[in-house]
Amino acid sequence: MARLQMGVFASGRGSNFLSILNAIDERRLDADIRILISNNPEAGALNSARGRNIPAGVINRADFPDRETFVREMFSVLRNHGADFIALAGYMKKIPDEVIHAFAGRIINIHPALLPAFGGKGMYGRFVHEAVVRAGCKVSGATVHLVDDQYDHGPIVAQRAIPIPDTDTPEDVAARVLRVEHQIYPETLQLFAEDKVRVRNGRTYIR
Ligand code: GAR
Repeated sequence: MARLQMGVFASGRGSNFLSILNAIDERRLDADIRILISNNPEAGALNSARGRNIPAGVINRADFPDRETFVREMFSVLRNHGADFIALAGYMKKIPDEVIHAFAGRIINIHPALLPAFGGKGMYGRFVHEAVVRAGCKVSGATVHLVDDQYDHGPIVAQRAIPIPDTDTPEDVAARVLRVEHQIYPETLQLFAEDKVRVRNGRTYIR
């Protein structure tokens, strides 16, 4: 059995999810994806998962009568599929605090900027890159971080920067950042698979 038994959450296109799948196929990542969860029935990631016989489903708050049933369903799906680690891969909703606490130290996210800049509520997807270009930044990048109960806030595990040429549009920056996302997310997941990540006083140390 692979060393990481993952639940992956994705909301949209799913290119990060694909980069994780490719890394597993190419044996750069010692992990199994036990379940793909989306909030969005149209998510491309759902098709990628189903095409590979990976269990996949939609869990959307709006489909539940109350928050408690929604959270209970999320827990039971993760448990029933044997997920003991969570990777958020372009997931645009906040994970319920109960789930974050239950998976503390074993739930990570990828953000398309160099945190702590350009993070927080409302800072996701293209909004991040528009803000970066509006601010006139000369670099941006991707951050992989442990998830805590605040948006884009937990300890940073990995970052990689990209230059922003003066002529770049937000779409250009997004594409440049996405290329490094596809490198650092599988690489960082492998650090967890090898149990190399330690956290002390809000800072991570890679053994
Ligand atoms: C990625 O750039 C990811 O970092 C970002 O959404 C995109 C999803 O692309 N995530 C966030 O903004 C979360 N705060 P993908 O669906 O092709 O992986």
